[in-house]
Amino acid sequence: MPSPVRSLLFGVPMLREPLPSFDPSAAPAEPFPLFLDWLTAALRSGVSEPHAMALATVDRDGLPDLRIVALRDATADGWLFATDADSPKSRQLTDRPQAALGFHWREQGRQIRLRGPVLRADAGTAAEDFRSRLPGSRAAILVGRQSEPLADRTLLDAAYAEALDRVTADPDLTTPAHALFLLRPVSAEFWQGSPGRGHTRLRYTATDAGWTREQLWP
Ligand SMILES: Cc1cc2nc3c(=O)[nH]c(=O)nc-3n(C[C@H](O)[C@H](O)[C@H](O)COP(=O)(O)O)c2cc1C
Repeated sequence: MPSPVRSLLFGVPMLREPLPSFDPSAAPAEPFPLFLDWLTAALRSGVSEPHAMALATVDRDGLPDLRIVALRDATADGWLFATDADSPKSRQLTDRPQAALGFHWREQGRQIRLRGPVLRADAGTAAEDFRSRLPGSRAAILVGRQSEPLADRTLLDAAYAEALDRVTADPDLTTPAHALFLLRPVSAEFWQGSPGRGHTRLRYTATDAGWTREQLWP
């Protein structure tokens, strides 16, 4: 007898058309302009939350970890995300400053993978990111204690209300508990799915002489 999960998944479509085309021979020499092109196209075509990306890290024991974070910015220099400086991911990145990022834009059948070293941005840049946020988001960051066990939900409500009062009373307030990290890719792969045909994959690799490009078997 099939398992309930297998039954639920039977016949669920994946990579539903129409999907955009991707001509790797016309791709730019570096990954950032292609990311910008794809992000622009994702936003134009109504992809939901294109800035939600998977962040993979490795802990002290070598065990991989993964969660979704928001892309705060990207330039040719790297991809930026923000988090609680005392969170498990921040500790993992301090111990092992390397990570991978993954975007999945399912409405377009697209995936982007980035791997590379991670640097923590300076305090001023993190403070700027903090101040650019809405009061509710700033209050949530001030509450902190990310991923600590929560014994009682009312403690969170009280901490959030108190943080919101602080943010409202002092709009210039910042906190060292807000960390901003920059992933500088040494490898970037763009994947375009295609139902019934071979998918198209283009991988950029950083070398001393600049970026190289190659297509990959799907
Ligand atoms: C759509 C989405 C966006 C998120 N954005 C962030 C973010 O930008 N920063 C963050 O610290 N956590 C974000 N989270 C929560 C993380 O996935 C995660 O639960 C939290 O950061 C704790 O991770 P850690 O225990 O590995 O440190 C987001 C979750 C989702 C589903």
